[in-house]
Amino acid sequence: MAKVAIDGVVQEAQPDELLIDLINRTGGLLPHVCYHPQLGPVQTCDTCMVEANGRLVRACATAVADGMKIATKSAKASAAQVEAFDRILSNHLLYCTVCDNNNGNCTVHNTTRLLAIEHQQIPFRSKPYEVDNTNPFYRYDPDQCILCARCVEACQNVEVNETLSINWEDPNPRVLWDGGSTIGESSCVSCGHCVTVCPCNALMEKTMLGHAGFLTSMKKSALSGMIDVVKGVEPETGYGSILQISEAEEAMREHRIRKTKTVCTYCGVGCSFDVWTKDRHILKVAPEHGPANGISTCVKGKFGWGHINSEDRLTTPLIREGGKFRQASWDEALDLVARKLSEIKTKSGPDSMAFISSSKCTNEESYLMQKLARAVIGTNNVDNCSRYCQAPATAGLFRTVGYGGDSGSISDLEQADLILIIGSNTAESHPVIASRIKSAHKLDGQKLIVSDLRENEMARRADLFFHPKPGTDLVWLNAISRYLLDSGKADKRFLDQWVNGLDQYRKSLEPFTMEAASRITGLSVETLTTAAHLIADAKRVCIVWAMGVTQHNQGSDTSTAISNLLLVSGNYMRPGTGAYPMRGHNNVQGASDHGSMPNNLPGYQSVDDPEVRSRFQQAWKAPLPSTKGLDNHEMVEAIHDGRLKAIYLFGEEMSIVDSNANYVGDAFAKLDFFVVQDIFFSNTCRYADVVLPGAPSLEKEGTFTSTERRIQRLYEVLEPLEGCKPDWKITQEIANRLGAGWHYQHPSEIMDEIASVTPMFAGVNYERLAGYKSLQWPVAADGTDEPLLYTKRFAFPDGKARLFPVSWVGPTDQPNAEFDLHLNNGRLLEHFHEGNLTYRTEGIQEKVPDVFVEVSPELAEERGIQSGTWVQLVSRYGRVRVRALVTDRVQGRELYMPMNSVESPVNRLTSSHTDPVTNTPAYKEASVHMNVLAEVGESPLPRINSRFGHPTPQKGVEVERKWKRQDYTQPGNGLVQLQTKT
Ligand code: SF4
Ligand code: SF4
Ligand code: SF4
Ligand code: FES
Repeated sequence: MAKVAIDGVVQEAQPDELLIDLINRTGGLLPHVCYHPQLGPVQTCDTCMVEANGRLVRACATAVADGMKIATKSAKASAAQVEAFDRILSNHLLYCTVCDNNNGNCTVHNTTRLLAIEHQQIPFRSKPYEVDNTNPFYRYDPDQCILCARCVEACQNVEVNETLSINWEDPNPRVLWDGGSTIGESSCVSCGHCVTVCPCNALMEKTMLGHAGFLTSMKKSALSGMIDVVKGVEPETGYGSILQISEAEEAMREHRIRKTKTVCTYCGVGCSFDVWTKDRHILKVAPEHGPANGISTCVKGKFGWGHINSEDRLTTPLIREGGKFRQASWDEALDLVARKLSEIKTKSGPDSMAFISSSKCTNEESYLMQKLARAVIGTNNVDNCSRYCQAPATAGLFRTVGYGGDSGSISDLEQADLILIIGSNTAESHPVIASRIKSAHKLDGQKLIVSDLRENEMARRADLFFHPKPGTDLVWLNAISRYLLDSGKADKRFLDQWVNGLDQYRKSLEPFTMEAASRITGLSVETLTTAAHLIADAKRVCIVWAMGVTQHNQGSDTSTAISNLLLVSGNYMRPGTGAYPMRGHNNVQGASDHGSMPNNLPGYQSVDDPEVRSRFQQAWKAPLPSTKGLDNHEMVEAIHDGRLKAIYLFGEEMSIVDSNANYVGDAFAKLDFFVVQDIFFSNTCRYADVVLPGAPSLEKEGTFTSTERRIQRLYEVLEPLEGCKPDWKITQEIANRLGAGWHYQHPSEIMDEIASVTPMFAGVNYERLAGYKSLQWPVAADGTDEPLLYTKRFAFPDGKARLFPVSWVGPTDQPNAEFDLHLNNGRLLEHFHEGNLTYRTEGIQEKVPDVFVEVSPELAEERGIQSGTWVQLVSRYGRVRVRALVTDRVQGRELYMPMNSVESPVNRLTSSHTDPVTNTPAYKEASVHMNVLAEVGESPLPRINSRFGHPTPQKGVEVERKWKRQDYTQPGNGLVQLQTKT
């Protein structure tokens, strides 16, 4: 600890702590405008000047030193602060009373108040630029921009999209997008980082404009008049009285603006934020305190909430009658559901029914769904969509290290020396995690290897990018493991101490020489050796993988090979190391954790373990089935076979997201009774007998578990839309009509029950999760959680990990003479999955209006295709019509089709082949024939899509360029005395 005297009071400081953090931490009131703890010092505003041992320094850029004497209020420091802030005011029209940003958190307003500024020395000078309104979600007003460059730092070094810069040398500097484009046509991905950190109203969410204030919805002309009035009285009254009026208006806002914490409903990163609402209008999403994301979001979490107030929300139950749906009351619909389920159970037995939970719903809802299946109906036929994506990764980790979750946290990914990404389009599918990796790579020297079929953004940034033949990842992974063992580069000490099964594993690697791997994968021995050396030489390695690995017929084995490689190279048990399968949906981890699986009760406790069953039987007061039930894939087969008669499903668009969608649809059409609970009339609803209107995440309480095993609470932002109910309430009402006698009043009671029957969650309760608090499972009874797993032992009885031999079989559904092209598929940044939620946000639809198929330039030339050409893709299982997008992201005869379509879903083309371990469909193994149609339309991606932009990477803010300006001097040198209130 260092001792620092601040204005005569000695304070204890952490070594290397920034002065500004020390002053803020110990209650000082130092003005500062450009500093943001999550951005670090950008040093553009100069308002944080203090005297350190008699010399003026910026407190945000000065580290403490033992014995330092700091004066924050000396004449010299105060004059410098005021002078610096006066320069800021010359860039900003202070009209707080009629400003949508007047919400108590405007840094410019608050600093004017703190410094008691009454009059400006340097008058406001308008900048010769128009307001830029070309982005659908936010606007930039140059006249309000104080050139603090927080936005630039956030875009360059936090999000690392590298769109923003400031033309410091220009007579009239401003923020630039792609060096001078409009926002709409730039590379901006609308992640919102810049808007979130802007300290004033220069960058504002459009949903705030005209809505936040009492006087801000006026016509522009009237507003300008008001601003003129405010400015007109300023010379006489000074700012003090103007600020008083605006603060009164701000206080009135507090009564009608609600700020409620929630967790993002889209991907598995687990971003959390406050949602600001006025009645049902969403004013903005404000990320700041989220343990996974801080100030970060992507376009979906920041702006993708159009589905909440969409006019086509389901608001009343529907019953199919005479081939048509009619509206029904809740009582009628629920009575019908209960009666039909009872009848089918009596007639055909409990195993003739199945239950499908949702990875969009909460942990508590998933728990109730499987409890309904098991304790009320008496079947283990229950599953969730992790079957479609993450089950193979879970299986690979269970085989080797013992827990089916990411072995560490996002912070471990930041600390790693080397990240290996395999089959994960991280920048689009898990954007906030990608930004952490991009930042560590850009700023901290982290190395990055990417293996993928497409040259996605991470591949473009990688130190080493390679493109193996589809479906051959297992081969090169095994070959690298063998190479490390053979060349003495494996971590022998780690293997000796912590790992079982080395001999058998070594033997299994015999076929995997570098030469054999090169033949099968198409990668050169040199590339494979380079990768092996990079892994061996790095002190801390993390491997990130996703559906490019798991959605193959050997998804589980390839995930196992990844974990084996981490064990061979000693990359578990330490910060900055480990296995990171990227969980897709917001709660795909939690849906499985909480027992919506055919073989496991909550906490991965096996249904065939008598001790486990008897514990649950006692708690649930019901006998429980002991044999594994049907998974999603088997359910479809069982319907076709006539064994499965009824399904109750919530929150899953299964008719489109399951592979071989035509086959799945045909199955649903055969069901005797099908209940679908959703917030929209989805494609799956078309097959239903009863449709029940559930509630989206913003309209309920509960918890989600993110990819880093982080359990977080969501609070009710808005009351459920009239006619809708939170899903846990609906499930409870169905269960009670079937005689369950459940009495849950609040999801916290469900969580208490979960904790009481699940050792993995023993210490989880709502109090420990209050606000932004979170827990990363396993959670001991005393509340201790494990952000990093396996720090003391692996999760097997002897505490040791297990090398698990895997051999190579090869992919299914290979191209042949008829189906000559390989079809890959996956997500897009802007849309989530099929787009049922995201198409309801206008701005997202504007940026990506439709689905497309990516075609390589060489294939396009061969077939006479251009962007916009309509093609028909025909596979062994179905066909779709779609426009082509010619791009070098794909190569040769490999196509890529994103999933964002309900009308032309890629899964009409995929097969029913699965990974035999988990029954996960081999989505990524598809081959097609392409018919080029005569029509040529517009390019399916409009010019305003960020992919057409031209980023301008730079080190960061580059404030040194500002300091070199002829008209710049560090404030305080002239000891200018400005007019302030004493
Ligand atoms: S990408 Fe766009 S929204 Fe995100 S920080 Fe950069 S400029 Fe702002
Ligand atoms: S737009 Fe950027 S530079 Fe301008 S005030 Fe906002 S954060 Fe600062
Ligand atoms: S979609 Fe994922 S990355 Fe984007 S805001 Fe939501 S949780 Fe964060
Ligand atoms: S806060 Fe230190 S220079 Fe802006």
